Amino acid sequence: MALKLIIFLFTLHYVVLCFALSNGTSTSYFCASSSSGVVVSYEWVEKDKGILSWVMNNTANTVSTFILVRGAIYQDTELIGPYAFGAAYYPAYIYNGLAQYFQGPPVTLQEYQSSGATPLGMVQLDSQQFWTSFVFTLSPGQIFRIEEAGYLYNGDVLIPECQGVYELSYQGTFNFQISYSIAEQCQAFDDVQPCPPSPFSMGSAVYSVPSSSVVSSMFLPSLDDRFQMTFCTSDALFSLASRRKAIPKSTDQRESSALYRKEKCRTSHLGSYHRNPILLIR
Ligand SMILES: *[C@@H]1O[C@H](CO)[C@@H](O)[C@H](O)[C@H]1NC(C)=O
Ligand SMILES: *[C@@H]1O[C@H](CO)[C@@H](O)[C@H](O)[C@H]1NC(C)=O
Repeated sequence: MALKLIIFLFTLHYVVLCFALSNGTSTSYFCASSSSGVVVSYEWVEKDKGILSWVMNNTANTVSTFILVRGAIYQDTELIGPYAFGAAYYPAYIYNGLAQYFQGPPVTLQEYQSSGATPLGMVQLDSQQFWTSFVFTLSPGQIFRIEEAGYLYNGDVLIPECQGVYELSYQGTFNFQISYSIAEQCQAFDDVQPCPPSPFSMGSAVYSVPSSSVVSSMFLPSLDDRFQMTFCTSDALFSLASRRKAIPKSTDQRESSALYRKEKCRTSHLGSYHRNPILLIR
């Protein structure tokens, strides 16, 4: 789940985008569609618990890579301004196994990713400005479902506010140093699980946004986070961590990390798509 209590004043204009498609037994609510024909809708899974399922349907005849920007409405008023799915709590997701940064050109989503290891990527808005969110890639005709919880406030169900589905273009894979608020982006999600250190280093696919309709406020939960491209200049020590637990540095890990760094510097534009080990700085 990824909702924070941030109140905006602009509201009505998005609500009209939403309508219901119902066949009497289950109800699917239209959310938004992308310029190339990805249609996103949602269905309640357990409405009284605020859990819904996003249904992403690529109706186009080309592969599509995109982000979903949505917020939430409480009693007819915007409670949570729309932001990119995955921009909140991504450090917690990395360590609890719900998400991973991916490297290389986009590959279409696999079924297991609806319940974990959802791809994270870097969205580039200008030469110096990067943000993180989930990046979804669907083949023509592919349908992908992913659940999201948290649509509850004061005991009432929140209604999703759909702002848009925005197409991305893959630009390459680069190294980043990521600084983030451990309290807001990890402990607020789960104060028991371990969190990545801040800063941490990470290789990630980078995507540009052809449409100028994607703006920095759509990544608001990470407003205080910093995503800096580092290339291969850092010689900081790091260790490979499991997704659930940071492993203290050992001599063996220093050796393997030196090896890894060398490989990585040689191939900063990776041609393959694979899980990304977490790189820890100090
Ligand atoms: C109603 O629609 C849902 C998906 O939107 C589908 O799974 C279900 O089978 C449909 N039921 C009937 C009776 O058509
Ligand atoms: C996906 O889109 C196609 C084409 O519009 C449609 O026929 C199909 O019913 C949709 N599937 C779902 C689950 O929305």
